[in-house]
Amino acid sequence: MKKILVTGAAGFIGFHLVKRLLETGHDVYGIDNLNAYYDVRLKLDRLRQLGIDVQEENFLRQKEVGSNTHSHFKFLQLDLTDEHRLDVLFEKEQFDVVANLAAQAGVRYSIDNPKVYVQSNVVGFINILEACRQNNIKHLVYASSSSVYGNRDEVPFSENDRVDHPVSLYAATKKSNELMAHVYSHLYGLPTTGLRFFTVYGPWGRPDMAPFLFTKALFEGKPIKVFNNGDLRRDFTYIDDIIQGVTGIIDKEVSQSDYRVFNIGNNNPEKLMDFIKFIQESSGKEAKLDFLPMQAGDVFQTYADIDQLQQYSGYKPQTSLKEGLQQFVHWYKEYYKVS
Ligand SMILES: NC(=O)c1ccc[n+]([C@@H]2O[C@H](COP(=O)([O-])OP(=O)(O)OC[C@H]3O[C@@H](n4cnc5c(N)ncnc54)[C@H](O)[C@@H]3O)[C@@H](O)[C@H]2O)c1
Repeated sequence: MKKILVTGAAGFIGFHLVKRLLETGHDVYGIDNLNAYYDVRLKLDRLRQLGIDVQEENFLRQKEVGSNTHSHFKFLQLDLTDEHRLDVLFEKEQFDVVANLAAQAGVRYSIDNPKVYVQSNVVGFINILEACRQNNIKHLVYASSSSVYGNRDEVPFSENDRVDHPVSLYAATKKSNELMAHVYSHLYGLPTTGLRFFTVYGPWGRPDMAPFLFTKALFEGKPIKVFNNGDLRRDFTYIDDIIQGVTGIIDKEVSQSDYRVFNIGNNNPEKLMDFIKFIQESSGKEAKLDFLPMQAGDVFQTYADIDQLQQYSGYKPQTSLKEGLQQFVHWYKEYYKVS
């Protein structure tokens, strides 16, 4: 059993990670600033699922602590840029492992709001690195992104590829995280593992991502925006497969100065039009399609080479896109009470 800090615990991946870690007997501490990038009620409902007695009013007025009913899970509303409170927390709790998932996510939002990304993803990340160094954390696992690969023709994307040409500031901050982590592993001996997530989806998923946006549009009878006239490919990865991969990394023993970066995807890019077909089948609704050109900052395809993670920890994604979307649409219907 380990004592694990999960940042971004009210977020999509963080919530699922906390849930799995608690089920497998770990002690978990979650932090999140509960920002309003998307509907805060979804974040609060995720916390409720984790046994946190959320007083909505308190959270929305930025009060500090939520009480919890799960004795192995504590939650604190905290921003990664609040260096002082972060240091106090690390010193008091003495975590074994830190899983840093908190970040300003979203490629498209970064096109119009680049500066927001520097605060959470660069300033926030250096605060995490420093707190890990000062408190001799045994392993820092952190979220990078497939977006570091930018626009490239050669597939699948391998960790051995050079990734020097990001096409969004979001991607640039994630690449910066990998560089900063390298310094801390090399100079201070902090073991770090970066995970390049490839389009994660599933129940409790993010409202700004295609599975959610498309499903919502279908149930509201609104047109679906289909970029690059539908000619896009994504390596969609189901949340349970991602969590299996992340916990596999957390369970591994690491040595001082270990520095690793892995792709964590499905190794099976799907055509956008097939993805739309599966959502239609799962929801029983016919989509109205609004074909649009390629968006700035977007890439034509993502396709993960996952050999390295497979060899390291036995990672093996199991969920087909069709099956995963059925799970997602099922959750969406229950959560939003639509049929
Ligand atoms: N979901 C994907 O497909 C995907 C793909 C690539 C990378 N990632 C990365 O994985 C991580 C988790 O993504 P997600 O999909 O769960 O996103 P999410 O937005 O649902 O979760 C991130 C959480 O971090 C919190 N947060 C943001 N800035 C913070 C700060 N400064 N201090 C404290 N908390 C803060 C947010 O409130 C949110 O709850 C992120 O780092 C994201 O960049 C996700």
